[in-house]
Amino acid sequence: MGLTEIYREGKKILGEKEFGWVLDAVETGFILEHDRHILDRYTFRPQYIDGVAPKTTCRILDVELATPVIMSAMTMPIPAIRDNGTMDVAQALKDAGSLMWTGTPTPKNLKELAATGVPIVANVKPFKDRDKMFRDLEEIQKAGVTWVGIETDAGQGTKIHDKQVASGCAPLSLQELKDIRKKVSCPLICKGILGRRDAEKCVEAGADGMVVSNHGAHTLDYLPHALQVMDEIVEAVGGKIVLIVDGGFRRGSDVLKGLAFGASLVGLGRPILYGLAAEGREGVYHLINEITEEMKRIMSLIGAEDPGKLTRDMLIEDP
Ligand SMILES: Cc1cc2nc3c(=O)[nH]c(=O)nc-3n(C[C@H](O)[C@H](O)[C@H](O)COP(=O)(O)O)c2cc1C
Repeated sequence: MGLTEIYREGKKILGEKEFGWVLDAVETGFILEHDRHILDRYTFRPQYIDGVAPKTTCRILDVELATPVIMSAMTMPIPAIRDNGTMDVAQALKDAGSLMWTGTPTPKNLKELAATGVPIVANVKPFKDRDKMFRDLEEIQKAGVTWVGIETDAGQGTKIHDKQVASGCAPLSLQELKDIRKKVSCPLICKGILGRRDAEKCVEAGADGMVVSNHGAHTLDYLPHALQVMDEIVEAVGGKIVLIVDGGFRRGSDVLKGLAFGASLVGLGRPILYGLAAEGREGVYHLINEITEEMKRIMSLIGAEDPGKLTRDMLIEDP
């Protein structure tokens, strides 16, 4: 299946299931369309003459990947899409040389997922019950995750349309982030940063990376797209920590825009679910592979030899 078919088939299958609404957005639904609008504002500046031979391999925080296209944090609704869904996703991402990122609830089989050899990042929410949050942080590390993610943006839980889905959360303080840092012995990634001040605090807390993200429209309404705030965040972190983006990235062209703005990795949320629904393990593998192949075609004719060589002047912004 090509990408268009994976998306069409995946959306159809998920739309027929009762949980299809989890793919929707908070309150007015503004964010999803706006994400697409922002990504579509950039075109590529071709350099046909003396084209380059591109590669997509990268090494981020000591993890070797065949592609900078990774899974964004999600657990729900993977087990409801396919019985062995989380394992199918882990194996597909391993085959594609990508990375798996789980969300809440933490998958019960996290240890088995890690045993597949795919690099795993597991997220923890800032539960009001901070003891639970710290217990979760300990458990995911025992399961053998590669990095730990903290949902810095989930202080008001998760909301889709008018329905509060995940509650019982409270915003973290800088001191709490520093406390979390002390309890995490592997790289720590703060997820959901969308501005200079939070970015600076993550650096101060000792985070190794951050995901610039509007949480796929599942937290607050009217949040900007990651690309709108990348410049201020790149400047704020000054190359000290790794930047990852997600939100609405669907094709190789989208991923290259994220990299050109200074991200090292680009996350996919809903597309992973579409791939899984359409074709199971094969569907997720094809999804990552097709996007990576699309990237290579474009990279060869815009002068980008590897994911770290994408620069802003390779893009032209609509007036
Ligand atoms: C069904 C679903 C579940 C999600 N669960 C989590 C989660 O548990 N933790 C988290 O940090 N983000 C979660 N997200 C947000 C994703 O990690 C990611 O930020 C977002 O989906 C990216 O946008 P995209 O779906 O347009 O690719 C979820 C998103 C979806 C669609």
